[in-house]
Amino acid sequence: MTANPASPPRYSRITGTGSFLPARRVTNADLTAELAQRGVETSDQWIVERTGISARHFVDADSQVSDLAAVAARRALAAAALQPGDIDLIIVATSTPDMVFPSSACILQAKLGIAGCAAFDVQAVCSGFVYALTVADAMIRTGSASRALVIGAEVFSRLLDFNDRSTCVLFGDGAGAVVLQASDTPGILATELHADGRHAGILCVPGTVSGGQVSGDPLLKMDGPAVFKLAVGVLESAARAVLAKAGRQASDIDWLIPHQANIRIMQGTAKKLRLPLDKLVVTVDQHGNTSAASIPLALDHAVRAGRIRPGQTLLLEGVGGGFTWGAVLLDL
Ligand code: ACO
Repeated sequence: MTANPASPPRYSRITGTGSFLPARRVTNADLTAELAQRGVETSDQWIVERTGISARHFVDADSQVSDLAAVAARRALAAAALQPGDIDLIIVATSTPDMVFPSSACILQAKLGIAGCAAFDVQAVCSGFVYALTVADAMIRTGSASRALVIGAEVFSRLLDFNDRSTCVLFGDGAGAVVLQASDTPGILATELHADGRHAGILCVPGTVSGGQVSGDPLLKMDGPAVFKLAVGVLESAARAVLAKAGRQASDIDWLIPHQANIRIMQGTAKKLRLPLDKLVVTVDQHGNTSAASIPLALDHAVRAGRIRPGQTLLLEGVGGGFTWGAVLLDL
């Protein structure tokens, strides 16, 4: 269904946020001790200096991504004063789904006790939430949906090679959610998505399921310096593009919420945009890199802390495997 050209413009707006972190918090000291038992050497000092990470949360063996997503979704619904039955679209951004199929969004829908509305997953790794929000915004603006749940949820700990110290110290598990509703006023001001599959090899989990077996390596591989270089460049270009689309300046941004990969990438982006570092929302220190969950987790934490307030302008930026990247500029 498309909007009637004569009808007034239709926008989308975030009306509630929620998040969830698994109970098991693993500090750098905990992880260093665990890795030492495998003969893998690291330290709190190395991890903090190179990444800004002090702790992350790891899921227990019995929980799936849809379980984390369900708690975050219910919290976002409560914040928006809606019931699950009010929702007409569910998009889950994840690279760690419960199973090959059905989608985690369909499993989540059943866990929320609802049926009938569209539900699907988006797979764009650490850019997944920005991709999912862009799709939901487009569906709302064209009249295909009115009240969407957009969720980023990951159990990245299950993809980690704990013999590879250059990757296993970086990631954590969690979920973040927003309710996105149709509105007469924006809301989401502009969006920008990109991908370049030529860089697929610098950050990947190359295994798959074939003939009843795992085929290839099912653990995360990363060329850290190559990712670092690409990430800094594309985060700046996406920010400038989305600001230009919306007719805004970097100085209009109240809060920059980049994908929480590494404090040095995040601060580098803020500096390139000439934003003071106190406008940068940072949760990577306590959450690690939670891939598609990192932006909505950071958003919800800052909203609930009373830092981010209605009426403020936010720049959300994702970058990750694919290679994928993108940005969403919005008024809360
Ligand atoms: N503890 C101690 N030493 C380590 C560890 C560790 N956990 N990991 C690597 N090292 C060592 C290496 O073995 C190497 O030692 P060597 O010089 O004796 O060979 C040394 O540290 C330097 O290794 P580099 O990989 O060059 O370290 P670098 O300064 O580049 O930092 C890092 C690595 C943190 C991964 C960095 O490249 C980075 O931040 N890259 C961006 C990648 C990122 O953030 N990825 C997240 C996922 S992607 C995304 O979300 C967009």
